[in-house]
Amino acid sequence: MQVFKSLKHWLVLGLGAALVCNTPAQTPVEATPPKLPNVVILATGGTIAGTGATSTTTVGYTAAKVGVEQLIDAVPALKQVANVRGEQVFQVASENMTNDLWLKLARRVNELLARSDVDGIVITHGTDTLEETAYFLDLVVKSEKPVVLVGAMRPSTAISADGPINLYNATILAGSKEAVGKGVLVVLNDQINSARDVTKTNTSTADTFRAPDLGFLGYMQDNRAHFYRAPLRKHTQETEFDISKLDSLPKVDIVYGYENVSRVPIDALVGAGDKGIVYAGVGDGSVHKDIMPALMDARKKGVIVLRGARVGSGIVARNGEVNDDKYDFVVSDTLNPQKARILLMLALTRTDDTKEIQRMFAIY
Ligand code: SIN
Repeated sequence: MQVFKSLKHWLVLGLGAALVCNTPAQTPVEATPPKLPNVVILATGGTIAGTGATSTTTVGYTAAKVGVEQLIDAVPALKQVANVRGEQVFQVASENMTNDLWLKLARRVNELLARSDVDGIVITHGTDTLEETAYFLDLVVKSEKPVVLVGAMRPSTAISADGPINLYNATILAGSKEAVGKGVLVVLNDQINSARDVTKTNTSTADTFRAPDLGFLGYMQDNRAHFYRAPLRKHTQETEFDISKLDSLPKVDIVYGYENVSRVPIDALVGAGDKGIVYAGVGDGSVHKDIMPALMDARKKGVIVLRGARVGSGIVARNGEVNDDKYDFVVSDTLNPQKARILLMLALTRTDDTKEIQRMFAIY
C-alpha cells in the first residue's frame, strides 16, 4: 500500500514537471521595489547613546557617548524600511536639557520638514526629559509630517538593549502615512504615545512610558504602526506659537507642594524675575494656607500663577479647591507640572492676559 502511495506521488510530480516543461517560456515580471520614505534621524544623546562598563551594566552607565552614525549602523534593518540619514544636533544626557537646546532642535526640525525630500523625523533622546522635549515640539513644529521621539532604558552595550528595536520602530513610524497629522509621537516598548499625554513613570523599567488615564495611541508590531486612537488637543501646525524669531523663552519655574511647605522658593523666584510659577499642588491642586499669601503676592507683581497638581493624573478643577477667578490664577487642566510649565512659557510669548492663557490650557 505504502509503495503504491509513493508511486502515485512520483507520477503526479512527474506529470506536473512535464506540464511545466511544455509551457512556453515567459519573461519574469520584475516586482517594482516599494519607494522608501526619507527619514532623518536627529540624535541628541541619552541612554540610547549610552555605554556601560560591562554587558550587565544597566544602571550607573554613561549616557550620550555614541554618535548618530554608530546608532544607525547598529541597526542594518533600518535601510530596508527607510532612506535614513543622521545628524548629531547635540550630545547630552537629557537631565541637562535647556531652552536654548530646545530652540535649536525645533528650528532644525522645522527646516527639515519644510523640504520635499524629507518625509519624517526621528529624534533620539534621553528618557528623563523626553516627554518635555516632545511636548515642546508638539506645540512649535509647523508641519503635519511625523516627528517621533525615541529613547532607551538600557545603554547600547547592555544585554537586551532596547535602543535598536525602539529606533527601528521609530523609523518605521516616522516614515508611515498613519503617523501624519497625529502630532509629535513617542515610541518605546512597542507602544505609540502622544507627546501631550505621555510621561515617564518608572525609574528603570522598559515599560516606563505611559499616558495615565488617557492611554497610548497604538502599537508597533509586524513592522508597521497600528493606531487605535488619535490626539484631539490642538498641536503642531494648528498652534499659535512661532519660535522662528525667538532667541529665548520667558522664565517659568515649578514649586512643589507638600506638608509644611515654605514660601521661600516662591519669593526667591519672583525676586529672580520669573514671569510665571507653576505650583504643583497636592490633590486637586490644593494650596497650603501659608502659601496662598506668597502666590497672591506673586500675582500682584505681575507673575502668572498656574495651579497644577503633583498627583500625576486628572483635571485640576478651575475654582475648585481655590477661587481662581478671585485670585486671577490659571489652572493646568490635565497637564503635569513639567508640561504645564512648557505651555505657560509659550503662552507668555503671546500674552500675559490670564483669560487668554486659560483658553490655551483648554485647547492644547
Ligand atoms: C537621559 O535622560 O539622558 C538619561 C536617562 C535615559 O536616557 O534613560
